[in-house]
Amino acid sequence: MHTVTCIAPVNIAVIKYWGKRDENLILPINDSISATLDTEQLCAKTTIMASPDFKKDQIWLNGKEESINKRLQNCLLEMKKRAQVGNEVLQWKLHICSENNFPTAAGLASSAAGYACFAAALAKLYKVEGDISAVARAGSGSACRSTMGGFVRWHMGSDPKGSDSIAKQIVPACFWPEIRILILVVNDERKKVSSAVGMKRSVETSEFLKHRAEHIVPKVANQMEKAILEKDFEKFAELTMKDSNQFHAVCRDTYPPCVYMNDISQLTVELVHEYNYAVNKTKVAYTFDAGPNPTLYLQEKDVPEFSAVLDHFLPPPTDAIIEYKKGIPVLPVKLSLDLLKKINLEQQLPGRFKYTIHTRVGEGPKLLKDDKDHLLNNRGLPVKDTKSV
Ligand code: DP6
Repeated sequence: MHTVTCIAPVNIAVIKYWGKRDENLILPINDSISATLDTEQLCAKTTIMASPDFKKDQIWLNGKEESINKRLQNCLLEMKKRAQVGNEVLQWKLHICSENNFPTAAGLASSAAGYACFAAALAKLYKVEGDISAVARAGSGSACRSTMGGFVRWHMGSDPKGSDSIAKQIVPACFWPEIRILILVVNDERKKVSSAVGMKRSVETSEFLKHRAEHIVPKVANQMEKAILEKDFEKFAELTMKDSNQFHAVCRDTYPPCVYMNDISQLTVELVHEYNYAVNKTKVAYTFDAGPNPTLYLQEKDVPEFSAVLDHFLPPPTDAIIEYKKGIPVLPVKLSLDLLKKINLEQQLPGRFKYTIHTRVGEGPKLLKDDKDHLLNNRGLPVKDTKSV
């Protein structure tokens, strides 16, 4: 019997991946760039146990037994191809247990962390060295960028089989330690079109997406990489916001349209621009994935003031049942009347956001060596209570 447990991070793209040229192999139509977030605040944790006694592969996700889907099977197949032949563990069935340290209902990209974690744990189990980004990619495209820390670029590659469609680190987390990320979780119960379905529809119907992938992203991805290498925050921020706006314009151009942002998302966009205009500098950037939650990139020195601005215009709920400000603590500051006057936005009712998470750029997946960290007991069953399907 062999057991391994890993944790893996979430990543938030600043140049978005949207569109596949091969649906089965998950090969994208453009490069994308993201920052990996610190696992301290957001991570997936996965235990894999291999045993000659297990009758079948089984998986429990966030406390519920699920079926092993095609994407998980693809990851497993890809990792087995890379493992040493003759490794007897390869023949054994697996029990897998995975959970996130944040609510899935938050609508945060949990699949990226989940598949990166699965790939990282499989690599340890089968003693596979080297790149695992292509294995994580077989589960979910954006997951390949969660297999390493810092700022990461997923190169689309040109091989029809996908051998060169891999992620590479631009810089490690310690290169630009001043960067902070604020995730604002909105109250929104609408049913959304999943990324996979949305991007397929965009590829089929949006001429604008084709233009973006062929003529815009190749240029802006290089500009983004340069801004990161030069730690040019203003350029980084501008490119981030423009790319997010363009991605959502593509979603609108899709037929039928995919609308991911809501009125609170739009208010946040306005607030960020108003604030940057008032301070005469691009200090804050927003970006939105396939959902309404704003993710803000800013520098450590600007967090206290901007947080106070946010609390003023989009106040926390008055009856917060759960902790509103999660993550790295923020020092409270008193805002100048002059600044508030310069920001041309109406103060909103409290509670437009459920809670916020303040985090930083972090490292890639990690192996947890303590037996206490395993999510499966020595019989291969979840340590915590589970619901069966
Ligand atoms: C908007 O990686 O979830 O977050 O490859 O079908 O699993 P699949 O899609 P997924 O798409 C992520 C889209 C995005 C942009 C990004 O993270 O680059």
